[in-house]
Amino acid sequence: MPSTPRIEIPPARESLPPVESCTLVIFGGSGDLARRRLIPALYNLLLDGLLPSHYAVIGLGRKPMTDEEFRATLREGLVAHSRRPLTDDTWKTFADHIFYIAGENGQASTYQTLKARAEAIEQQFNLSGNRIFYLSIPPSSFAAVCEGLEQAGLATKPESRAPYARIIVEKPVGRDLVSAQAINAVTGRVFDESRIFRIDHYLGKETVQNLMVVRFANSIFEPIWNHKYIDHVQITVSEAEGVGTRATYYEEAGALRDMVQNHILQLLCLVAMEPPYSLEPDVVRNAKMEVLRCLRPIVGKDVESYTVRAQYAPGAAHGRPIPGYRREPGVDADSTTETYVAVKCFVENWRWAGVPFYLRTGKALPHRASEVAVQFKDIPQILFNANAQQPLPPNVLALRIQPEEGLSLRIVSRVPGTRAQTHPVEMDFQYSDVFGRPSPEAYERLLLDVMAGDASRFMRRDAVEASWAWITQILEGWQQQGLRWLPEYPAGTWGPVEADRLIQKDGRYWRTL
Ligand code: BG6
Repeated sequence: MPSTPRIEIPPARESLPPVESCTLVIFGGSGDLARRRLIPALYNLLLDGLLPSHYAVIGLGRKPMTDEEFRATLREGLVAHSRRPLTDDTWKTFADHIFYIAGENGQASTYQTLKARAEAIEQQFNLSGNRIFYLSIPPSSFAAVCEGLEQAGLATKPESRAPYARIIVEKPVGRDLVSAQAINAVTGRVFDESRIFRIDHYLGKETVQNLMVVRFANSIFEPIWNHKYIDHVQITVSEAEGVGTRATYYEEAGALRDMVQNHILQLLCLVAMEPPYSLEPDVVRNAKMEVLRCLRPIVGKDVESYTVRAQYAPGAAHGRPIPGYRREPGVDADSTTETYVAVKCFVENWRWAGVPFYLRTGKALPHRASEVAVQFKDIPQILFNANAQQPLPPNVLALRIQPEEGLSLRIVSRVPGTRAQTHPVEMDFQYSDVFGRPSPEAYERLLLDVMAGDASRFMRRDAVEASWAWITQILEGWQQQGLRWLPEYPAGTWGPVEADRLIQKDGRYWRTL
């Protein structure tokens, strides 16, 4: 039974940002991201009537393909990954706006071809020349693309107002502080910061956006959202899949770079930030930036007490065997790349003094589940909590990011009957129960934001560099440890015993998800 009656809310069209006609150029257009996420996102925006009436999509990749062949691969991707089914009519309309160019990112001729083709398409579709360049390519190619765009005159300067040229930078923005700074320098030399949209797709998730709403649209949480009432915070992003077909990328990344540097630190910022004085993009981003500045560095030998890294060993999930990480195709047999990481950290400011934040993420865990859990302090050992052998469980506010989007508040209640018995119960809210419509995918929201020029949900340069600065110190500490092998956890379990020890030595426990 739904805990709250389902409510139908008419779409708030007036609050959607206006979008002008534009051409989206996807570098890495024949890759996975385009097929699985970007094209399905555009298709669903079209179904919702949110795409501008005039638009075009140009995929750019190394693989030679005709427009028709490109469209056919995208169609397959849509059938498999669109949140709403494909209909032949809409597909036909959509497909007519999609084109493909084969070319090398490092060759000047690619950009000449792109320019000529874009102009022809823009004329055909009566487009205004606004262009968005999506870099869904390895960071090693970012410089070549920015320079190619600049030399071909495709990166219009910020002072020229219309038409605009914007760039979307997909993660990873670097692999440490120095490489992130180099990427930011090259993109920043060609594009103004206001035209650069660094994507962290977690910021487009409905439930992640809801973190700010829960905190700042309700009066009951903010007064207790501090070290006086909160014992600790746990942020978990658990994935059931192993590394799959992404070994080449993952071997170079690992869980800390892949998930903590971006997604998890962004969640932490939203939980820990001070109330911004407005929702202006830079006001919100300044408030988040303050959190990153307050993160206590984990340096040198501290990595041993504050972090745990591990790899999955052979195991099974959902009845399917998973090989150990080092046996996955494309993975070095002596790899020390971590597929699991747990970190204990502190935000050193007045609000959070002494409150640990426990972060954990891993691949090949029992199931997909992400949440932010705020655990409140124990109540005094009197009245209903007088029995020291059986202390009452503390209140916990759990904000579920996915897949069962919602939130729950654990409280202690009296069990009906003649004996004075108490029991913890969950007050639960599920998006799907309450709102009668599915949430849009993160990329839908974010692509629309770029079209509207709204950077609130994107990473500013200083934030990317601040988070890399913190992560790089951990990476350096790990390097000094010089481990030749990592602790292991069987695939399909909740991580290594070392991660349990990390939290249990503080008298606390990971939540069971
Ligand atoms: C990506 C990581 O950024 O996020 C992947 O590179 C990870 O390794 C993915 O699987 C998780 O995203 P989501 O939206 O499925 O939680």
